Amino acid sequence: MGKLVVMDHPLILHKVSMIRNKLTGSKEFRELVSEIAMLMAYEATRDLQLEEVEIETPLTKMKTKMLSGKKLAIVPILRAGLGMVDGLLSLIPAARVGHIGLYRDPETLEPVEYYCKLPSDIAERDILLIDPMLATGGSASAAIQFLKEKGAVNIRFMCIIASRKGIDVIRNEHPDVDLYVAAVDEELNDHAYIVPGLGDAGDRLFGTR
Ligand code: PRP
Ligand code: URA
Repeated sequence: MGKLVVMDHPLILHKVSMIRNKLTGSKEFRELVSEIAMLMAYEATRDLQLEEVEIETPLTKMKTKMLSGKKLAIVPILRAGLGMVDGLLSLIPAARVGHIGLYRDPETLEPVEYYCKLPSDIAERDILLIDPMLATGGSASAAIQFLKEKGAVNIRFMCIIASRKGIDVIRNEHPDVDLYVAAVDEELNDHAYIVPGLGDAGDRLFGTR
């Protein structure tokens, strides 16, 4: 079974409380989502492979550790996942970025795919799939399935607020995927919004309604 890591860093918890607050406007919301993604990346990249290399300091040669050549891809689920990309790229600038466009049909709540563009070597990359919200789990599960059909084998999913139900769905349908979440909420309302949650992440990021 893949890992389930729930963040406990005070900076992350503080910033999650700020984005939950309905008085937080789009500009601040965007900055905070990006910062949370960057902080979460410390945990989500904790087991990246290192290799020993020789370098020269101004004083002498030394052996030291650097990231090994394994390549990463960051894959946001559009559109709200876009809000997490810059924070991650600031830590992992060499990562490639793929995009999967999904929206939830408001009637059926089923994910509908409308866009996909992935690095051509996606099957060889470690993948960090990102979306701020995991509600019914339908969108993330479909995105993971899609990545697997393209040959991806090493997938981590990072989201800011997850419902208990969404976590169960991903762990049942994709037990190999590691999950990194900043907060777990117990409930979904009749429209499958996470309660207490933070509302509609895409609308709050981009000022739509
Ligand atoms: C939101 C969110 C997830 C999805 C989660 O996107 O960003 O992708 O809902 O819900 P689920 O777990 O029940 O599938 P939405 O469909 O609202 O699209 P948007 O990002 O374009 O606003
Ligand atoms: N998508 C959101 O943006 N928020 C929710 O609470 C559920 C799905």
